[in-house]
Amino acid sequence: MLIEKNAPLRDYNTFGIVAKAQTLVRITSEADLAQLCADPVLGPQPKFVLGGGSNVVLTGDVRPVVLKVEVMGKRLLAETDKAWIVEAGGGESWHGLVQWTLAQGYPGLENMALIPGTVGAAPVQNIGAYGVELQDRFESLDAVDLSTGQSFTLDAAQCAFGYRDSVFKHLAAQPGDFGLSGRALITRVRLRLPKPWKPEMGYLDLERKRQERNVDVPTPLHIYEWICEIRRSKLPDPAVIGNAGSFFKNPTVSPEQCADIIAREPRIVHYPMADGSIKLAAGWLIDACGWKGKSIGNAGVYDKQALVLVNRGGVTGGEVVTLARAIQTSVYERFGIRLEPEPVVI
Ligand code: EPU
Repeated sequence: MLIEKNAPLRDYNTFGIVAKAQTLVRITSEADLAQLCADPVLGPQPKFVLGGGSNVVLTGDVRPVVLKVEVMGKRLLAETDKAWIVEAGGGESWHGLVQWTLAQGYPGLENMALIPGTVGAAPVQNIGAYGVELQDRFESLDAVDLSTGQSFTLDAAQCAFGYRDSVFKHLAAQPGDFGLSGRALITRVRLRLPKPWKPEMGYLDLERKRQERNVDVPTPLHIYEWICEIRRSKLPDPAVIGNAGSFFKNPTVSPEQCADIIAREPRIVHYPMADGSIKLAAGWLIDACGWKGKSIGNAGVYDKQALVLVNRGGVTGGEVVTLARAIQTSVYERFGIRLEPEPVVI
């Protein structure tokens, strides 16, 4: 267990916000966590789990003990007629895992290529892109209860996955509730990659690539390359322009609400969901309010995708929050829709 005082966090959040952790502990194993929980000073203190920092806005120095997850390792756990089961440490890079599985010949994660962040953070918000969500490939995970140091395993049902949602984003309102927000650290994730592999080509952007490239039957590597191209063309690379991916969730409305909005805004981008609700494109709503390319202080709205807030140089967490609130207000005033942020503000 490595403990650092006044540790700079700038390189540990993809927005590139300058802030410090009063105490940062690097966690490389379950044993580190057991030691931390038993520590008379650190054990009882509030804790904040940091993965790849791709879903966090730091509004100042972080007082809770920052746990930097560095549990590593990738392996094939089992292969059956129906699937490859792979396991990865929570500290591994998500994109690195996607590349590794493809190189080993275990396809299935290609639609989720280039999503920033770590393997351990992936289940927290049930990451997803281009028709595949983590829950579609999830087998189980190991986590540690931060109040006791005890390890436990959860299956998909226990993770209670939803759209950019899981049990790890909910607080337990009363004893017996199954909210794990702030209470657990994910050490290892196991994924089930189904056989035979089938391409997921449901997104128009992917179908366009297939036609452009004149490919009849795409391979996993084709899809991987097309996804990387599509994402690079509309999402900023956090290594170059600080950002936290989509800043808001796509909101859902009832068919009646949607009909009402369409009557006023016929061009609104909307998708019917399996449960009868309608999902609206938050990027379109923000764009329609004229925010694309605009800034407040050093926080900006990306000029190719209005759902992404960016660091225009030296941004503070406060500026990001001010811009996000201004966007929420204008979308609410024009459409009557409340946008919900994706990242954790701390
Ligand atoms: N749009 C605009 N203007 C904009 C942005 C978008 O008109 O400035 C329109 C687009 O033309 C399109 C629609 O809105 O018709 C949707 O845009 P896009 O296809 O870029 O996807 P999204 O709904 O904005 C979601 C995820 C992304 C994921 C993509 C592809 C959320 C919050 N975001 O974005 O996930 O990569 O679909 O599956 O669900 C992330 O969560 O960080 C993320 C990047």
